Amino acid sequence: MSDSPFDLANESGYRAWRAAKLAAYPRSVDELVVPLADPRHLSADELAALESRCARANMAIYSAPHLPAADKSIPKLLGQQLGLTRLEGNYLADEDGLSSITPAGVTGSVRGDFIPYTHKPINWHTDGYYNALDRRILGMTLHCAQDAESGGENALLDHEIAYIQLRDVNPDYVAALMQPDAMTIPARMDESALSPREREQSLGPNQTIARPEQSGPVFAVDPDAGFLIMRYTARTRSIVWKSDAVTQAAVKTLADILASSEYILTTRLRPGMGLVCNNVLHTRSGFTDSPDHRRLLYRGRYYDRLRFDLAKAPVRPQ
Ligand SMILES: [Fe+2]
Repeated sequence: MSDSPFDLANESGYRAWRAAKLAAYPRSVDELVVPLADPRHLSADELAALESRCARANMAIYSAPHLPAADKSIPKLLGQQLGLTRLEGNYLADEDGLSSITPAGVTGSVRGDFIPYTHKPINWHTDGYYNALDRRILGMTLHCAQDAESGGENALLDHEIAYIQLRDVNPDYVAALMQPDAMTIPARMDESALSPREREQSLGPNQTIARPEQSGPVFAVDPDAGFLIMRYTARTRSIVWKSDAVTQAAVKTLADILASSEYILTTRLRPGMGLVCNNVLHTRSGFTDSPDHRRLLYRGRYYDRLRFDLAKAPVRPQ
């Protein structure tokens, strides 16, 4: 048995960690909000304020409404100060690696085929749930450059809370979702708009693998640092759950928790606000745009977790 609260054999350690976690967890989204004078240059007090929110909930919401919001340097430089440097550059991202999440507006474009680039709601997930385990998305940022005319809220839930609520129902469900073959994302086949690297994987003139099949656990514990990782999507299309009864019951119970958890925090990011997090569970509600309110968020996905000791440490050359 290890000291980890995520070890199912460590009941006493888990109980102590659980009690402290639930007692500290914010019960209002307002508790997550940290006003920042300039996110690109954090003061020591601002860094400490962000750290305390992230210690409690694996996330913080910053607010800098006085700055021009449509500026990618805000989330990028904020992230760098929080240890987020290894940015995933997926092929739909803009050149600097941050994705501009906004309705594509052009039917038939590649972006328009993906729900993030529409007005549609997005169900519970963590980002990059389909990534291979050596490309885990540990950190995620969302910066609001422009909000929608109406809608576009984000519901948020610390994945450690989801873990607690599932373990409270039945520890066997947690064990089931830690199986390396609990969740399988089938390969995605694309026919166009591929990067050169993806074209190399082409199977023929029109058939290519845009992403190979990925199997993995929902919950995993980092073997070195001991933190909890969650890969999850509530989507039912393009996902295959392990078919045994315990896994099926675990998936259903987790979906029920996400539909009703009292710990869910909901926010509507306004221009100049943003989220920094350790890839917590989140949703997006559907929204409507107007010419002056065309929703635009800059999203960063990172192979790093948030850290708060960089300002104290000597700067290392890149
Ligand atoms: Fe997301």
